[in-house]
Amino acid sequence: MDVPAHEIIVVPGVGQPGRDELRQQCYDLRVEVFHREQGFSVEDEFDQYDEAATHVLLRLTPSLTPVGTIRVTRPAGTYYKLTRLVVRKDYRRFRFGRELVEFHREWVRQDARAAGQPEARIHCHSQLYVRPFYAK
Ligand SMILES: CC(C)(COP(=O)(O)OP(=O)(O)OC[C@H]1O[C@@H](n2cnc3c(N)ncnc32)[C@H](O)[C@@H]1OP(=O)(O)O)[C@@H](O)C(=O)NCCC(=O)NCCS
Repeated sequence: MDVPAHEIIVVPGVGQPGRDELRQQCYDLRVEVFHREQGFSVEDEFDQYDEAATHVLLRLTPSLTPVGTIRVTRPAGTYYKLTRLVVRKDYRRFRFGRELVEFHREWVRQDARAAGQPEARIHCHSQLYVRPFYAK
Protein backbone atom coordinates (compact mmCIF):
# COMPACT_ATOMS: atom_id res chain seq x y z
CA MET A 1 0.00 0.00 0.00
CA ASP A 2 1.57 3.28 -1.14
CA VAL A 3 1.19 5.95 1.51
CA PRO A 4 0.40 9.32 -0.09
CA ALA A 5 3.11 11.96 0.39
CA HIS A 6 2.20 14.19 3.29
CA GLU A 7 3.41 16.53 6.01
CA ILE A 8 2.30 17.43 9.51
CA ILE A 9 2.29 21.06 10.61
CA VAL A 10 1.35 22.97 13.76
CA VAL A 11 -1.22 25.70 13.09
CA PRO A 12 0.38 29.06 13.96
CA GLY A 13 -0.64 30.64 17.25
CA VAL A 14 -2.96 33.59 17.90
CA GLY A 15 -2.03 36.65 15.79
CA GLN A 16 0.41 34.77 13.54
CA PRO A 17 0.05 34.69 9.74
CA GLY A 18 -1.96 31.82 8.29
CA ARG A 19 -3.60 30.88 11.59
CA ASP A 20 -7.21 31.50 10.61
CA GLU A 21 -7.08 29.64 7.30
CA LEU A 22 -5.20 26.63 8.67
CA ARG A 23 -7.28 26.37 11.82
CA GLN A 24 -10.41 26.51 9.66
CA GLN A 25 -9.08 23.54 7.68
CA CYS A 26 -8.81 21.60 10.95
CA TYR A 27 -12.34 22.65 11.91
CA ASP A 28 -13.69 21.62 8.49
CA LEU A 29 -12.18 18.14 8.90
CA ARG A 30 -13.78 17.80 12.33
CA VAL A 31 -17.19 18.81 10.96
CA GLU A 32 -16.82 16.41 8.03
CA VAL A 33 -16.00 13.43 10.27
CA PHE A 34 -17.63 14.02 13.66
CA HIS A 35 -20.76 15.78 12.38
CA ARG A 36 -21.48 14.52 8.86
CA GLU A 37 -20.04 11.03 9.20
CA GLN A 38 -20.71 10.26 12.88
CA GLY A 39 -23.74 12.46 13.52
CA PHE A 40 -22.52 14.53 16.49
CA SER A 41 -23.89 18.06 16.67
CA VAL A 42 -21.78 20.99 15.48
CA GLU A 43 -22.55 22.77 18.77
CA ASP A 44 -20.88 19.96 20.72
CA GLU A 45 -17.93 19.87 18.36
CA PHE A 46 -16.51 23.27 19.27
CA ASP A 47 -15.76 24.19 22.85
CA GLN A 48 -14.04 26.72 25.08
CA TYR A 49 -10.65 25.07 24.55
CA ASP A 50 -10.44 25.64 20.79
CA GLU A 51 -9.17 29.22 21.00
CA ALA A 52 -6.11 28.45 23.13
CA ALA A 53 -5.54 24.92 21.85
CA THR A 54 -2.67 23.80 19.64
CA HIS A 55 -4.14 22.50 16.39
CA VAL A 56 -2.15 20.09 14.25
CA LEU A 57 -2.86 19.45 10.57
CA LEU A 58 -1.83 16.55 8.35
CA ARG A 59 -2.00 17.45 4.66
CA LEU A 60 -0.99 15.89 1.37
CA THR A 61 2.00 17.20 -0.51
CA PRO A 62 2.35 18.94 -2.88
CA SER A 63 -1.42 19.61 -3.12
CA LEU A 64 -1.75 20.70 0.57
CA THR A 65 -5.11 18.93 0.75
CA PRO A 66 -6.11 18.64 4.44
CA VAL A 67 -6.54 15.01 5.51
CA GLY A 68 -6.23 14.77 9.29
CA THR A 69 -6.07 16.76 12.48
CA ILE A 70 -5.48 16.42 16.23
CA ARG A 71 -5.71 18.92 19.09
CA VAL A 72 -3.56 19.51 22.17
CA THR A 73 -5.18 21.18 25.17
CA ARG A 74 -4.26 21.75 28.82
CA PRO A 75 -7.70 21.86 30.46
CA ALA A 76 -6.51 22.27 34.05
CA GLY A 77 -2.98 23.42 33.37
CA THR A 78 -1.57 20.31 35.02
CA TYR A 79 -1.93 17.68 32.34
CA TYR A 80 -2.24 17.63 28.57
CA LYS A 81 -5.19 16.23 26.69
CA LEU A 82 -5.39 14.51 23.32
CA THR A 83 -8.65 15.40 21.56
CA ARG A 84 -10.40 15.81 18.22
CA LEU A 85 -8.38 13.29 16.25
CA VAL A 86 -9.76 12.66 12.78
CA VAL A 87 -8.55 11.26 9.49
CA ARG A 88 -10.76 11.64 6.42
CA LYS A 89 -12.53 8.44 5.49
CA ASP A 90 -10.76 7.98 2.13
CA TYR A 91 -7.36 8.20 3.80
CA ARG A 92 -7.72 5.79 6.71
CA ARG A 93 -5.42 2.85 7.42
CA PHE A 94 -2.37 4.66 6.01
CA ARG A 95 -1.12 5.09 9.61
CA PHE A 96 -1.94 8.81 9.49
CA GLY A 97 -3.85 8.51 12.77
CA ARG A 98 -0.85 6.88 14.40
CA GLU A 99 1.45 9.61 13.04
CA LEU A 100 -0.80 12.31 14.44
CA VAL A 101 -0.82 10.68 17.90
CA GLU A 102 2.96 10.32 17.83
CA PHE A 103 3.33 13.94 16.71
CA HIS A 104 1.06 15.01 19.57
CA ARG A 105 3.16 13.06 22.06
CA GLU A 106 6.42 14.61 20.80
CA TRP A 107 4.91 18.10 20.89
CA VAL A 108 3.86 17.56 24.51
CA ARG A 109 7.28 16.20 25.43
CA GLN A 110 8.99 19.29 24.04
CA ASP A 111 6.48 21.68 25.57
CA ALA A 112 6.96 20.10 29.00
CA ARG A 113 10.73 20.19 28.68
CA ALA A 114 10.62 23.86 27.72
CA ALA A 115 8.61 24.50 30.89
CA GLY A 116 11.19 22.62 32.98
CA GLN A 117 8.87 19.70 33.73
CA PRO A 118 10.63 16.33 33.96
CA GLU A 119 7.54 14.47 32.78
CA ALA A 120 4.12 15.14 31.29
CA ARG A 121 0.83 13.27 31.51
CA ILE A 122 -1.52 13.02 28.55
CA HIS A 123 -5.21 12.23 29.07
CA CYS A 124 -7.33 10.81 26.30
CA HIS A 125 -11.03 9.92 26.36
CA SER A 126 -11.94 7.86 23.35
CA GLN A 127 -14.99 6.48 21.66
CA LEU A 128 -15.27 2.81 22.55
CA TYR A 129 -15.01 1.52 19.00
CA VAL A 130 -11.60 3.12 18.56
CA ARG A 131 -9.96 1.75 21.72
CA PRO A 132 -7.94 -0.87 19.81
CA PHE A 133 -6.40 1.94 17.77
CA TYR A 134 -5.28 3.83 20.88
CA ALA A 135 -4.11 0.63 22.52
CA LYS A 136 -1.72 0.09 19.61
C1 LIG B 1 -9.52 6.62 14.52
C2 LIG B 1 -8.84 7.14 13.28
C3 LIG B 1 -8.24 8.51 13.55
C4 LIG B 1 -7.71 6.16 12.88
O1 LIG B 1 -6.98 6.72 11.82
P1 LIG B 1 -6.19 5.82 10.76
O2 LIG B 1 -5.25 6.71 10.03
O3 LIG B 1 -7.15 5.04 9.95
O4 LIG B 1 -5.42 4.81 11.71
P2 LIG B 1 -3.97 4.18 11.47
O5 LIG B 1 -3.86 3.75 10.04
O6 LIG B 1 -2.92 5.10 11.96
O7 LIG B 1 -4.03 2.90 12.40
C5 LIG B 1 -3.00 2.57 13.32
C6 LIG B 1 -3.28 1.14 13.80
O8 LIG B 1 -4.55 1.10 14.45
C7 LIG B 1 -5.42 0.19 13.76
N1 LIG B 1 -6.76 0.80 13.69
C8 LIG B 1 -7.10 1.96 13.07
N2 LIG B 1 -8.41 2.19 13.24
C9 LIG B 1 -8.91 1.17 13.99
C10 LIG B 1 -10.19 0.84 14.48
N3 LIG B 1 -11.26 1.62 14.25
N4 LIG B 1 -10.33 -0.31 15.20
C11 LIG B 1 -9.26 -1.12 15.43
N5 LIG B 1 -7.99 -0.85 14.98
C12 LIG B 1 -7.83 0.26 14.27
C13 LIG B 1 -4.82 0.04 12.37
O9 LIG B 1 -5.14 -1.18 11.80
C14 LIG B 1 -3.34 0.18 12.65
O10 LIG B 1 -2.82 -1.06 13.12
P3 LIG B 1 -1.38 -1.59 12.63
O11 LIG B 1 -0.38 -0.53 13.06
O12 LIG B 1 -1.20 -2.89 13.32
O13 LIG B 1 -1.46 -1.70 11.14
C15 LIG B 1 -9.82 7.22 12.07
O14 LIG B 1 -10.44 5.97 11.92
C16 LIG B 1 -10.90 8.26 12.24
O15 LIG B 1 -10.71 9.44 11.93
N6 LIG B 1 -12.09 7.85 12.74
C17 LIG B 1 -13.21 8.75 12.87
C18 LIG B 1 -12.98 9.79 13.95
C19 LIG B 1 -12.77 9.16 15.31
O16 LIG B 1 -13.46 8.24 15.71
N7 LIG B 1 -11.76 9.70 16.01
C20 LIG B 1 -11.41 9.22 17.33
C21 LIG B 1 -12.26 9.89 18.36
S1 LIG B 1 -11.97 9.20 19.97
